[in-house]
Amino acid sequence: MIKFTVIGGNASQDLAKRLAKKLKAAYIRTELKTFPDGENKITFSSKPKKSKIIVVQSIYPPVDSNLIQCLSIISKAKQFSSNVIAVIPYMGYARQDKEFLLGEVVTIQVIAKLFKAIGATKIIVVDIHSPTGLKYFKISAKNVSAVSELVKYFKKLKLRKPLVVSPDSGGKNRAKEFARLLKTNYITLKKQRNRKTGKVRIVSSNLKEVIGKDLILVDDMINTGGSIIKATEFLKKQKCQRVFVACTHALLVGNAERKIKKSGVSQIVSTNTIPGNTSIVDVSNIVANTLM
Ligand code: R5P
Repeated sequence: MIKFTVIGGNASQDLAKRLAKKLKAAYIRTELKTFPDGENKITFSSKPKKSKIIVVQSIYPPVDSNLIQCLSIISKAKQFSSNVIAVIPYMGYARQDKEFLLGEVVTIQVIAKLFKAIGATKIIVVDIHSPTGLKYFKISAKNVSAVSELVKYFKKLKLRKPLVVSPDSGGKNRAKEFARLLKTNYITLKKQRNRKTGKVRIVSSNLKEVIGKDLILVDDMINTGGSIIKATEFLKKQKCQRVFVACTHALLVGNAERKIKKSGVSQIVSTNTIPGNTSIVDVSNIVANTLM
């Protein structure tokens, strides 16, 4: 008898297949048809057999569409199993985890309620923006860190004494862990974001420790690229050598990738929580390990 059935949502088919292979699980594809009015119709490629079901679907753009697809798949999966685990490699809306400005909706809390209401028994996410977001899930919730997998990639690049840099204080622990595994040092920049316009600026003073060094900017995600571009421009002025970027989730909206390269970044390395040009690090192993 099989222990797990993995169902891959449209946003995460490749990662779901890899996960099924690692877990020696049955795999069910979903077919997505989007109607001209934007509504989705999802069809399972076969009927799940009696087992625990794992639904894999990232919530990247189109965010609301991928979210409703995910909830719909979980709802259908509940017809076949009482135990449905949601693997959300990239959890959208996780940055909206507080009422930063008066009147703002804490959207991740709404999403947490939806997952519970639809019947997910457990939720597994990869590098959620902050642990605060996970606290809203009133079901078993686990965050898996992709830092070790990203570090494995950077070890192969054999950079000479690179320095790890967090673009802001919120990412300090991530950069610290990255540096510990890479057996090197880290620093943290000071970033300010205007909560109304979203614009960022680096307010650190001059940094002698970056002179002549290859740097690895480590962040959980790249959205518009604003944070990485501002950090790279600042670090290049400090006369560093090359700048590499390591991030878990590369959304790279609009022409972010081109703009980041133009700012002087040598390479962007991200994971397959969001498939794309830069997603060369596979997280299926670390996710499988938490399920075995
Ligand atoms: C913010 O605190 C996050 O960790 C990222 O630095 C941020 O979301 C990246 O967004 P953007 O690429 O638009 O600057």
